[in-house]
Amino acid sequence: MVSEVHNNPAAILRVERLSMKFGGLIAINDLNFEAKRGAITALIGPNGAGKTTVFNCITGFYKPTEGMLTMTRQNGEEYLLERMADFVITKKAKVARTFQNIRLFSGLTVLENLLVAQHNPLMLSSGFTVLGLLGFPTYKKAAADAIEKARFWLEKINLVDRADDPAGDLPYGAQRRLEIARAMCTDPELLCLDEPAAGLNARESAELNKLLLDIRDETGTSILLIEHDMSVVMEISDHVVVLEYGTKISDGTPESVKNDPKVIAAYLGVEDEEVVELIEQAEAAGVDDITAAVDLLSTEALHEIEEAHPEMAPTALIPAAGTPKAKRARTAVAGAQTAKTAPGKSRGAPTPARTPVKPTGATKAGVISNALPEPRGGKADKLILIQGIGPVNERKLNAHGIFHFDQIAAWKKADIIAAEAYLDFDGRIAREDWIGQAKRLAREGRTPAPRKTGGAK
Ligand SMILES: Nc1ncnc2c1ncn2[C@@H]1O[C@H](COP(=O)(O)OP(=O)(O)OP(=O)(O)O)[C@@H](O)[C@H]1O
Ligand SMILES: [Mg+2]
Repeated sequence: MVSEVHNNPAAILRVERLSMKFGGLIAINDLNFEAKRGAITALIGPNGAGKTTVFNCITGFYKPTEGMLTMTRQNGEEYLLERMADFVITKKAKVARTFQNIRLFSGLTVLENLLVAQHNPLMLSSGFTVLGLLGFPTYKKAAADAIEKARFWLEKINLVDRADDPAGDLPYGAQRRLEIARAMCTDPELLCLDEPAAGLNARESAELNKLLLDIRDETGTSILLIEHDMSVVMEISDHVVVLEYGTKISDGTPESVKNDPKVIAAYLGVEDEEVVELIEQAEAAGVDDITAAVDLLSTEALHEIEEAHPEMAPTALIPAAGTPKAKRARTAVAGAQTAKTAPGKSRGAPTPARTPVKPTGATKAGVISNALPEPRGGKADKLILIQGIGPVNERKLNAHGIFHFDQIAAWKKADIIAAEAYLDFDGRIAREDWIGQAKRLAREGRTPAPRKTGGAK
């Protein structure tokens, strides 16, 4: 497992020719990238791009179909992660992770969650015996060290006051920070975070940025970050790798990536050739920076165009929901109007019409129960104010006859299932509490201050 040589000491992780197939579905296709030591590397891409699958391969949850994943520790030891079991990866290769869905022990206290993470050194020092637990001075020392480390991280994440509360009682943002602290208690050299900002409000998101920068700068831990929230990605990443349909489409600094037409096209769900035209349209509408006009940077920008130029509604900038490239087939939905495609790229597919598509709801009424033929009073709510809905998904929801917060607030389980299948989401509506958010927004009955984050999902 351990070899003497390491090619590039600056790289803590080398991903080479990584492929992962699930039956006929190619989730990752010949992927190559490096994560630099001491840096924050972001892995971004639209839904279903394969980001979590990359993490699952790195952390031993999946055995890749092909490829090599080399982790080089600070001391020069190299580990081929694709050959190792998950718990050995944490213990020996020093890679820790958090999950897209929070996985804390919700019945244990906040402190206990941090102590459980240090189970290995504690058990080792006990000699794996009860007597050891009771008597060994080494155990007492290890226990004191574990508590000290837990306390350090509790302070870092501002949760000292909640140490004795059940983790499940914490607000969502605090649970996300606790997960990161728990991973840090295993002393990782590489910390892999799967959408840590999901469901956070703007203040929590800023706190998260600070925490991650502190981790990088004070502990020297390298971070591999999957994130949809572009404010997080652009502010704190040193390096960004963009995936689409399991293939790398861009790799570079945040600045270079955000201006890469391929990336813009991927996030908008359009063909690459259309990007130039989109840029021209946005410029004509008075938006200087095309990247600000797409969800990649600001979900508000498209609405700015709409307000400045009602004749050029954002729907004109985003192709119809049925664009083959805009989705991957995961679940066929009866009655859905979209032509679902087999997973993989759909180059050469017909380019969608650039005209605004009037939502008719006709074919979708059977899918989402409270679809409307058109917005009440001719004006739709800004669904993008719901954290987790970007302009692309807002467009898709509109195309399905969903225009108002109160419609989403009234969704029943069957509606959520239908919407998730259509949007190609996997539990995200519940995770991000769209219903709760929609209820609040509907209750407020006004348009709150625009949130700052993107969310092209
Ligand atoms: N265990 C599995 N079995 C079958 N298909 C899977 C499995 N895990 C992932 N996939 C498929 O692989 C593709 C990539 O999924 P993955 O979860 O890695 O995407 P992602 O980029 O993390 O998306 P998201 O942003 O929605 O979290 C999807 O089409 C998904 O349905
Ligand atoms: Mg994922």
